[in-house]
This record gives sequence, C-alpha cells and structure tokens, in this order.
Amino acid sequence: MKARSAALPIIAPSILTADYANLASEIGAVYAAGAEWLHLDIMDGVFVPNMSFGADVVRKLRPHSGAVFDLHLMVADPAAAVPQIAAAGADRITVHVEGNVHLHRTLGQIRDMGLKAGVAINPGTPVAAIDAVAAMVDQILVMSVNPGYGGQRFIEASLDRVRALRERRGSLDYLIGVDGGVNPGNAASLIEAGADMLVAGSSVFQGGGSYAENIAALRKNDIFCSYNV
Ligand code: DX5
Ligand code: ZN
Repeated sequence: MKARSAALPIIAPSILTADYANLASEIGAVYAAGAEWLHLDIMDGVFVPNMSFGADVVRKLRPHSGAVFDLHLMVADPAAAVPQIAAAGADRITVHVEGNVHLHRTLGQIRDMGLKAGVAINPGTPVAAIDAVAAMVDQILVMSVNPGYGGQRFIEASLDRVRALRERRGSLDYLIGVDGGVNPGNAASLIEAGADMLVAGSSVFQGGGSYAENIAALRKNDIFCSYNV
C-alpha cells in the first residue's frame, strides 16, 4: 500500500453552495484558505432531480485554481460525459455505482486517460455493491445524503458505512470520502470511522467564519494532528 499523506483528512469544498456569480474568486479563495482539493458536482437533472453545470464551466474554472479537481458525476450516462469532463481539466472523476450498467468499463476509461477513478455509493445501496470494482478505484465516495442538493442533513447511518468500507479495504489502496451534510459536528466522528476525505459545501461556503476558519473547523479534531500536540 502506498504511504498516505500527512495532510489527511483531505478537505474538498463543493462549489455547489458557492456564489455562482463569482466562481473564479470563490475557488481561488478556498484554495488560498487551505483546501487542496475542489469538489465539482455535475448534475444532469435526470440521475438526480437538479441541474448544476457542465464541462464548459469546469474548463473555464481550471486556470483559476491550483487545486486537485475532483469531479463527481451525477449523470444518467457517465460514459458519454467522461471524455468531455476529462478534457475540461479533471484530475479525478467519480461515477455512481447505481444505474451504471458498464461501471467497470467506465472506470477503465477514466484510468486509461491517466486520471484517478472513483465510485460513489448512495445511502440506499448496500456497500457490497462496490466489491467488484474495489481493486480498480482510487476512491470510494460514501454519499451521506441523497444526492442532488447542497445543504441537506447528514444521514447518521453513514458512519457505519464508512466503518464497513474501512474494514473491507484490507490491502487495497482507495481513499474513503464522505459527501453530504459534513460539518464540524460530525467531521471528527467521520475521520475516526475511517474517512480520508471530506466533501463540504455549506459548512465551508456558508459556515460561520472565514473560509480558512471553516476549513480548520473540519480538521480541528483531526486524529492525525492530535498525536503531534
Ligand atoms: C450532493 C453533492 C454534494 C453537495 C454537498 O448531491 O454531491 O457534493 O454539494 O453539499 P453540503 O456539504 O452542503 O451537503
Ligand atoms: Zn458531490
């Protein structure tokens, strides 16, 4: 297994709750505030009941941030979307296990382009659904809300799902991410359960403090840091 970075947990602000009228400055600001990754949610209004933005917006944003672009595709036809999203400037592309008839092929397509591949799993899907592809993914994204909207309430059962994936991981090398309703009140429990990466939209862009303070609040009970103090 590769060494894991000391910067864990990775904080990936989701721009779904950023100010869409000022996205370039928003993404520059969260990068400057210490977020190494940026989470970009692509929604097509079919796989989920909401629409967000597409490849053109990703392409326009790319020069405005040095962050890792972590793309989360909530679309009915991920195989068709992957080439456009990759060309627009993605570093990592995550597709859903649900409804993806050719999941194995799509993940291979992402890896063949030299990108990191991830699989997301909805709250109602048994964690065993990722088993067949676990060896070919760089991350598993545990949805802790039903995808489609920012600002939803965290589903508590997600903690057990993170623990279950941590146990299942064995000698495999994927990161475990959590997406939806992550805030300073549940971040420490998620990290303790085994989360390596936390997606956070509302708690970063609409939290009480500056972006740096909001990001620091998600890390403040970081079990890795606590060994050093
Ligand atoms: C939900 C999206 C999330 C969302 C998270 O469908 O995948 O990335 O933006 O937003 P918060 O942190 O507000 O729940
Ligand atoms: Zn997301």
